[in-house]
Amino acid sequence: MDVPVVPLSLKYASHSHIPGKSKKCGEGVSAIVKVMHKLNGPRNELFAVKEFRKRAQSETPEEYIEKVNSEYCVSKSLDHPNIVVTEDLCISTNKRWCHVMEYCSGGDLFGLIQKDFMREPEKNCCFKQLLRGVAYLHDHGIAHRDLKPENLLITADGHLKITDFGVSEVFAGKHPGSAGIKCGMDMTEIRLSNPGIVGSAPYIAPEVQGKTG
Ligand SMILES: Nc1ncnc2c1ncn2[C@@H]1O[C@H](COP(=O)(O)OP(=O)(O)OP(=O)(O)O)[C@@H](O)[C@H]1O
Ligand SMILES: [Mg+2]
Repeated sequence: MDVPVVPLSLKYASHSHIPGKSKKCGEGVSAIVKVMHKLNGPRNELFAVKEFRKRAQSETPEEYIEKVNSEYCVSKSLDHPNIVVTEDLCISTNKRWCHVMEYCSGGDLFGLIQKDFMREPEKNCCFKQLLRGVAYLHDHGIAHRDLKPENLLITADGHLKITDFGVSEVFAGKHPGSAGIKCGMDMTEIRLSNPGIVGSAPYIAPEVQGKTG
């Protein structure tokens, strides 16, 4: 995969008011996510920078880079109001890979559920937006495979956006990494993914957990 890589510090700066500190907006198994703004852009236009963990000892450097690039290429190729916008693939000064995305200041749906803030109409509205995003993904040959409240973000104006394509699979059409940054091209053949279970343990359906192959 031939993907342009931008040195993070040449384009983005931390949005923290404390010099040398970063402003964190989230954390997952594979990364921490920080709030930044563009060096040559307005200070109030914010970006979420997903900084990946170090390579695991069980992974080869090639496998690790392939994983980071694949997630980037899939998310960069998507264009839908209910999918988070991916901006850049960057490398930080401490040599960590970073995906730069639009910042969703409402946080994730998990946090919103915990606050017990939503009533029936808001819940239905979120669900409809989730279905629209998922329909778009499936129409373009992408299976997300890790849909859960932590991976559903809320923008400042209350829109829901699907994020985290870390275990997504391109089941039809060319992989966007090889198709010049577009998904949904040449959708003739549907491929089965490799056997094995992916996703997040508490959200895996019992019938999937019971599967042997
Ligand atoms: N664009 C964004 N705007 C605001 N918050 C974000 C954004 N992207 C991620 N986050 C926050 O950071 C958290 C971790 O991000 P993400 O899910 O991409 O990381 P991960 O390590 O791949 O997660 P997982 O544990 O699901 O594998 C999210 O659950 C969310 O709370
Ligand atoms: Mg996640």
